[in-house]
Amino acid sequence: MDKSAIENKISALTQELNQHNHSYYVLNSPTISDYAYDKLLHELMNLENEHPEFKDPHSPTQRVGSDLSNDFTQITHQYPMLSLGNTYNEGEIADFYQRVSKAIGDDVEYVCELKYDGTSISLTYENGKLKHAVTRGDGEKGDDVTSNVKTIKSIPLKLKGDYPANFEVRGEIFMPTAEFLKTNELREIEGEAPFANARNAAAGSLKMKKSAEMAKRRLDCFLYYLLGPQMPTNLHSENLEKARSWGFKIPEYYKICKSLPEIYNFINYWDKERHHLPFEIDGIVIKVNDIHLQNELGYTAKTPRWAISYKFKAEEALTQLLSVDFQVGRSGRITPVANLKPVQLAGTTVKRASLHNADIIAQLDLHESDMVYVEKGGEIIPKITRVEMNSRHPMSAPVCFITHCPQCNTPLIRPEGEAAHLCPNDKACPPQLKGKIEHFVSRKALDIDSFGEQVVDFLFEKGLVRAVSDIYHLTYDNLIGMTRVSHDEENKTLFSFKEKSTQNLLDGIAQSKQVPFANVLFGLGIKHVGATVAKTLTKTFNTIDKLANATLDELTALDDIGPKVAQSVIGYFADPDNRALVERLKTAGLRLESEAPTQSNGKFNGLSFVISGTFAAFTRDELKNTIENNGGKNLSGVSAKTSYLVAGENTGPSKLAKAEKLKVKIISETDFIDLLER
Ligand code: IVH
Repeated sequence: MDKSAIENKISALTQELNQHNHSYYVLNSPTISDYAYDKLLHELMNLENEHPEFKDPHSPTQRVGSDLSNDFTQITHQYPMLSLGNTYNEGEIADFYQRVSKAIGDDVEYVCELKYDGTSISLTYENGKLKHAVTRGDGEKGDDVTSNVKTIKSIPLKLKGDYPANFEVRGEIFMPTAEFLKTNELREIEGEAPFANARNAAAGSLKMKKSAEMAKRRLDCFLYYLLGPQMPTNLHSENLEKARSWGFKIPEYYKICKSLPEIYNFINYWDKERHHLPFEIDGIVIKVNDIHLQNELGYTAKTPRWAISYKFKAEEALTQLLSVDFQVGRSGRITPVANLKPVQLAGTTVKRASLHNADIIAQLDLHESDMVYVEKGGEIIPKITRVEMNSRHPMSAPVCFITHCPQCNTPLIRPEGEAAHLCPNDKACPPQLKGKIEHFVSRKALDIDSFGEQVVDFLFEKGLVRAVSDIYHLTYDNLIGMTRVSHDEENKTLFSFKEKSTQNLLDGIAQSKQVPFANVLFGLGIKHVGATVAKTLTKTFNTIDKLANATLDELTALDDIGPKVAQSVIGYFADPDNRALVERLKTAGLRLESEAPTQSNGKFNGLSFVISGTFAAFTRDELKNTIENNGGKNLSGVSAKTSYLVAGENTGPSKLAKAEKLKVKIISETDFIDLLER
């Protein structure tokens, strides 16, 4: 292909992928299979890699994010990001309504919207291209999270239609409920504390250091406010519709209301219906629709006078505490769970509530058989908020945290500075052993299809699989004909190993011997070694033996491996049982070595770079990627070992001074491109 044919091909692929993205993430109606989408995306990636001169920072390939560290710079908002005044009852809404009527008259149109419970974001577009994504910060300035935000597929990188040249659009980045549950499950597997609610999960994800990691969190974004020097119309609702036509995900849940009763109806409808939404909301926002009238009403120091929020009351119910169970998680974490007398709350029957940890039980001053208030906040599992002291029986004893594991009777420990109690018996405590097996066979690890939780549980109980290496000793004769029945009086068959299911399982096990080393390492379930850390480790330590013998210094020398991860790896391999397990997995034929690394063209082999400031042709992540792809190394600070300081706009003065002092070459972005193309 000649140059112009390549350029055309890149542009056609870009358009096609953008269209599919929009259909899938904004319109919720896919127009292509995942497989076909990935194929197109890879085709584009390859073309862009071969012809970086045609690469566009707004290309759909940029949505996969980068493995390099983000450092967030601060950006001052062109228009401050204000908050909203809160109201909690109809009376306070009526006060707002009256204030508006008094100032501008009775005939006012309001737009009622949902109040999305995530983290707010301001997106700036210039000539139809996403320029910056900035968090609210202190309202005046926020963090530049553009490279992370680019990975959110419902946010358009390029607009279509008749958009203004310059504008800002604001909205809420949130984590859909299903994604929130999955994220917490994964965190539990990796030994991380779960997020308390979807809002924290969204805010935490947005500040992740690596955009490639954030991309995996699958955040979403609703936009609800357009502002700039030339707005398409004088009505907020019409501006939103315009913004929808440019490609933004504008929620459809808003309603134009012309009277107080209509506003109350909207509130009451969503107060009930919110429990069926696939994301969390914590209230309603009521806005004057006419922008001239908005300006007439103006602002107080912190909030607009033309809008207000109504916060839903967390629904509460009073019920009796029956008992407290202590559950043992996969990583040995003990979670106290209250069993309650069933009670109706927010459309569901609540029978259990999480008590989180010993501190929470103590704070509540919970006693046996207490009458307790349960509430459903942003959390999925209801929680006990307080005890009805007037109903307490004078003789009832305080609820005590257990001292021994309810599953294996080992004395519990509480690591310093942590809220949770742990069962340290990770070698024999049944839920911990089963958890290790479930993790090992899971999709991101050995990916053994048809080895679900039920099968793990069953084979564990039968004593056939007590450790992950036992999986590779399963045979057709072991399995065929085995049947699991429910333990209740019905004795229902839950599953049985027939010819086909047995063969499927064995095929899956055989195939797992081909999964890459990084997956196997992740599958071992070493604390703090998630899928990404496993990849980093296997890039440098290309055999498990090298990794097993790595020193603390060798490990922490790697980018992104801190002392916590390094200690955990060293601790794992210091244990002879773990080493024996690894040997058994080697004998079983698993891949415990990396394939030879793909050679980069090595233009920058042996060179190290520090980049500072912002650049015209690259985002910071792209620049870092380019350096790595050409064999160079990125360093965060200037030292005598640095080969080049690549100085963009607003380079940090201390970096410049240090580079001058140490006689490190300082090059501009253009010099860098010359170096690259030389
Ligand atoms: S309008 C000047 N509309 O609520 C008014 N805010 O304190 C700009 N929020 O953190 C905000 N849903 O992120 C508006 N439909 C909605 C909203 C909404 C959620 C958040 C916003 C801000 C807070 C307001």
